[in-house]
Amino acid sequence: MSGDAEDAVPALAGVQGLKPLVTAFQGTVLDPTQPQYRQSDGLSYDHEPEMFTRGSAPRPLTAVAGRGATLRLSDGSELIDLCSMTENTVLGLNDPWVKLRQVSYVLSERPHYVTVRFGNDLYYRVANRLSRHFNKTGGGRDYVLNMRECTGSGAVELGLHAAWTAARRSPGRRRLASFVGAFHGSNLGGVLASDHQPERGSGRVLLDRADNVEQFPVPEAGPDGRLSPATLETLAALERDGEQYFAVIIEPIPWRNAVHVVPAEFLRRLREICTAKSICLIFDEVQNGFGFTGAIWHAETAGVCPDIAVLGKGLTSGHGTLSMIVADRAFGTVEPPFGFKSNSANMLSLVAVDAVLDRLLGVEGPDAGSLPDWLPTGLEQELREGLLSHTYAHAVRMIDEMLTELRHRFPAMAGRLTGLGLMRGLVMLGGDGLPSSAIAGEVARVCTGHGVHVRQAGTALFLKPCLVITQGEIGRALTALTRTFEAVAGSRAV
Ligand SMILES: Cc1ncc(COP(=O)(O)O)c(C=O)c1O
Repeated sequence: MSGDAEDAVPALAGVQGLKPLVTAFQGTVLDPTQPQYRQSDGLSYDHEPEMFTRGSAPRPLTAVAGRGATLRLSDGSELIDLCSMTENTVLGLNDPWVKLRQVSYVLSERPHYVTVRFGNDLYYRVANRLSRHFNKTGGGRDYVLNMRECTGSGAVELGLHAAWTAARRSPGRRRLASFVGAFHGSNLGGVLASDHQPERGSGRVLLDRADNVEQFPVPEAGPDGRLSPATLETLAALERDGEQYFAVIIEPIPWRNAVHVVPAEFLRRLREICTAKSICLIFDEVQNGFGFTGAIWHAETAGVCPDIAVLGKGLTSGHGTLSMIVADRAFGTVEPPFGFKSNSANMLSLVAVDAVLDRLLGVEGPDAGSLPDWLPTGLEQELREGLLSHTYAHAVRMIDEMLTELRHRFPAMAGRLTGLGLMRGLVMLGGDGLPSSAIAGEVARVCTGHGVHVRQAGTALFLKPCLVITQGEIGRALTALTRTFEAVAGSRAV
């Protein structure tokens, strides 16, 4: 791919130690570079929407290869993905280290699957590593883990169950506090806890809504840093009625609200109230967790520790499905059938989490001494340092510069910058100079045709690039976004 020359780390197939394996597969049915999805008459299965349930068919673009933030499409063109394959791949596409560790595991006779009936040392290793990190950075609390869910939605529901279970002895505690615009998942628990419902009223699963979910306004601070009156009123309401709530669930960065960052001051005061009133404080960190804001979880970023944190997405960087909850021991009870998903914890996902931790934080002391001597220098260096220590700041700086340049080029169209770290928003302005969800939607709709992928977040564009994005990719994204803005501005003028 055209970005390769600038990458510190070459593609996995180019790594010297793997050459014999790659060569052995070439030209055989095991060769993954051959087209995978052809019918016997040679026709492609691509884009046959009738194979799928309505609303779930893949979109017209087909990705056939990728590295980092660059995707190659089936028509041969390249596209810069500024949303990390829809917010999952914190290490970009095809991270060489995660794949290398998976390859090595696949070639062994180690169990590729684990259940709660049979322990497994890698399962314990990953749990131990995570547990040490959360307990070291968790403000002296005593955290326990559950790693038996596959999706963010599953982990959210598990967190709600754990909070509900902890409140069992207080029948008066039945309310859940959530926030306007929040999205917590697509299963029943996630849907009922969410406000963001694109198809509100169209009927979902068993229940359309839960009467015990209270939606509070998005917590905000003014330019002077002071919490807004509505935000103070939320705190006052929770203080007043705290005994009725079993939990508060909040996304630290509710990105659908123009990539808004919840003020740390609000989280601090919310923490105090939840502690005083014995309410379980749940951070839904499915979006921000695992590197996107420079840390593994928000406790490290905001200095506020939740009773339960929910993590998914970045956990495996897209190399497998796994999600988890981290719970203060007081909220750490789950009861069957919760927390024992029979198709969860496949070992390759656990290998991926371990490898993602290697990439983000650096390999642990004893492992650093036994890295293979044939690793490319760039990769070895990154594994010794951990990407969060240097690369993260560099990536954030490049994104800042790109967004600033866009604002400079399009002052009438590109407004305020929002977000944090690698979760960023650019508010789009309409002809009247006001934030416009129509313009943001239009940019998000047409951008792929110009070679870049960003999403809409209300009135803003949402960018969530991978940590390993390169200067060359940023340059190509800027060119593509410039073309996109010009096209949208042109059509607006007509
Ligand atoms: C904040 C948040 N929570 C939960 C979920 C659900 O995660 P999943 O789609 O993996 O079930 C999402 C998904 O985007 C999310 O953004």
